[in-house]
Amino acid sequence: MRRAQQLGRYHLLDRIAFGGMAEIYRAKTFDAQGHAHLVAVKRVLAHLAEDDDFIQMLVDEAKIASLLRHGNIARVYEFARAHGEYFIAMEHVDGKDTRTILERCRQKKKPMPPEHAAYVAGEVASALHAAHTAVDSKRRPLRIVHRDVSPSNIIVSYTGEVKLCDFGIAKATLSKVNTKTGVIKGKVKYMSPEQALGRKLDHRSDVFSLGSCLYEMLTRVPPFTASNEMDLLIKVRDAKYRPIADLVPSTPPEIEAIADRCLTRSRAQRYQTAAEVEADLRAFLRRYVPNYSRSHLGRYVRKAFAAEIERELRMLEEYVVTDDVSDDVGVNLIARDAEDVAPMPVPFQPRPAGTADVLIGDGGTGPGSDDTDGDGENSTTAERRQQAVSSFDVHVAQTQILDPGRHAMRPRTRTAPPPVPPQPPRARTTSAPPPIPPPRARTRTQPPPDFGDDIHREETMILDRGRFRPNRG
Ligand SMILES: Nc1ncnc2c1ncn2[C@@H]1O[C@H](COP(=O)(O)OP(=O)(O)O)[C@@H](O)[C@H]1O
Ligand SMILES: [Mg+2]
Repeated sequence: MRRAQQLGRYHLLDRIAFGGMAEIYRAKTFDAQGHAHLVAVKRVLAHLAEDDDFIQMLVDEAKIASLLRHGNIARVYEFARAHGEYFIAMEHVDGKDTRTILERCRQKKKPMPPEHAAYVAGEVASALHAAHTAVDSKRRPLRIVHRDVSPSNIIVSYTGEVKLCDFGIAKATLSKVNTKTGVIKGKVKYMSPEQALGRKLDHRSDVFSLGSCLYEMLTRVPPFTASNEMDLLIKVRDAKYRPIADLVPSTPPEIEAIADRCLTRSRAQRYQTAAEVEADLRAFLRRYVPNYSRSHLGRYVRKAFAAEIERELRMLEEYVVTDDVSDDVGVNLIARDAEDVAPMPVPFQPRPAGTADVLIGDGGTGPGSDDTDGDGENSTTAERRQQAVSSFDVHVAQTQILDPGRHAMRPRTRTAPPPVPPQPPRARTTSAPPPIPPPRARTRTQPPPDFGDDIHREETMILDRGRFRPNRG
């Protein structure tokens, strides 16, 4: 048993990653009904937390990021200060980032199959287009450019969801890290030529970076590599790379052409919008694997990381929330600063508000043995995950409500929703968050959907519903 450290509304579990700017933890928190949720908490490193300008930059950027609502963008819940620390709380994506997936591809000496590459890139393109066209409450364009579209910021969940992370945080991160510590390594690789030259950027810069990611998925090597940063900058600036078919002759020419058009040096010759990239990738995918769905991607990732999935589950099961939960949830700095944008209240609280659900998982029953299709997912694993990772429900619910156009669903017979537990007594927190809107119910009143390319999402949602039943509470 391990006691989780509390930070604001969150109880930090295992550390997922450690970078030049922050440490990332999986963390547990509770909604107003007392249900447990997993979130990702990115804690700013101490030396940067002392830098007021840097923190202000993070606040500004997190403010913008928190406005974005899209099924392919990891939600930002808050940027807060609590217990003397600064941190960002965001949607936890239970899966692997594409940098890790690509490392595995390199180990196995096999690129990602083109259908998966097309699907992942298409989902990211969809996220980018939403960000590029986002407007504020007065319908003024926000002109968001991600600036750091790179494999480590694209996370694929074990169910095949694709989420782009670090929206808006990228600008602050890059400018600061660049000037202060020089820890920009690895990211230059995915820059656009105009970015490498330090020019003013527009959304087409992200289109180029997406092309670099697509290239790497198809070939398992990045388009631009060099032994030192100066040479790398020159290569990126010139946008010269080895043709994909030279490296992997079996690559379908259509998808190679899409990558090439993203990777064009001249902005005017590139795809002009991420939506065009998405449309071409979806059209390719429809021809290449007509029945492709998100679950194919989920299976691919689960199979590649079966051992890790087991380890991650064990880790989750080890933690318990501390006995003396503090009601100090800190200050949401996005809320404090926002005059022009109304911040979404943070739908979480540090304690389960009256319910007894403080233990994560089922106590560790060990791996099951009925993994029939060899993808690392057996009934025991699935069940344990269902218990341990109740977080998915809230995200699926929010995505459906906030993106009714995208995720509208055909009326169908469905299993009755689980009973909603009675509203718990008001928590002792000073600012009790409002309850999360009831999941799913509203989508039924949506107009009939235009299926188009979203048919894949549609199928997978049915699948996921079974997998991630709301916590038993
Ligand atoms: N919201 C999240 N959910 C799950 N994992 C995440 C999340 N955000 C980041 N990670 C993991 O942490 C890693 C490092 O993230 P980050 O600190 O942004 O570093 P980098 O600059 O390499 O992207 C990511 O590549 C991913 O594996
Ligand atoms: Mg990142």
